[in-house]
Amino acid sequence: ETADAPVAERTLVLVKPDGVRRGLSGEILRRIEAKGYVLRAVRLLDATPALLHKHYAEHEGKPFFEPLVEFMMSGPVLAVVAEGEGVIPGFRSLAGATNPTEAAPGTIRGDLGRDWGTKVVQNLVHGSDSASSAAREISLWFPEV
Ligand code: TYD
Ligand code: MG
Repeated sequence: ETADAPVAERTLVLVKPDGVRRGLSGEILRRIEAKGYVLRAVRLLDATPALLHKHYAEHEGKPFFEPLVEFMMSGPVLAVVAEGEGVIPGFRSLAGATNPTEAAPGTIRGDLGRDWGTKVVQNLVHGSDSASSAAREISLWFPEV
């Protein structure tokens, strides 16, 4: 029977340096688990420029790209593989809109995010936006998974 079991959906979540610095890692993981998703891998690391350039390749050349990479190197990042039915769009719903000032109450960014008026949005979390992004990003942050 297990041979036919579908591969469970997985997404890459990052608790960005602002979230780790502000002590919100536990609160963010709590929300993921409370929703019923399972943590499959967790890793705290200092992201390198090479990793971040690959991770954010789609944004290369945009005005916020270099500030974004710089911000992502301002402290450790907590990388998480979360699993569950619908977890890719589901985590993006939990996260809320990209801009914390526009993110709805009840979301991670809406409840906990702040807009400091900096040149890059410090919005606490990243979540993969599609199955292909998730596969690509998980292999970048967890080459062994
Ligand atoms: P994006 O992939 O558009 O947002 P999301 O994280 O919601 O998928 O952008 C990646 C990150 O780049 C975003 O989380 C914060 C930063 N960013 C800015 O700083 N300014 C911007 O105008 C945009 C669109 C993104
Ligand atoms: Mg994105």
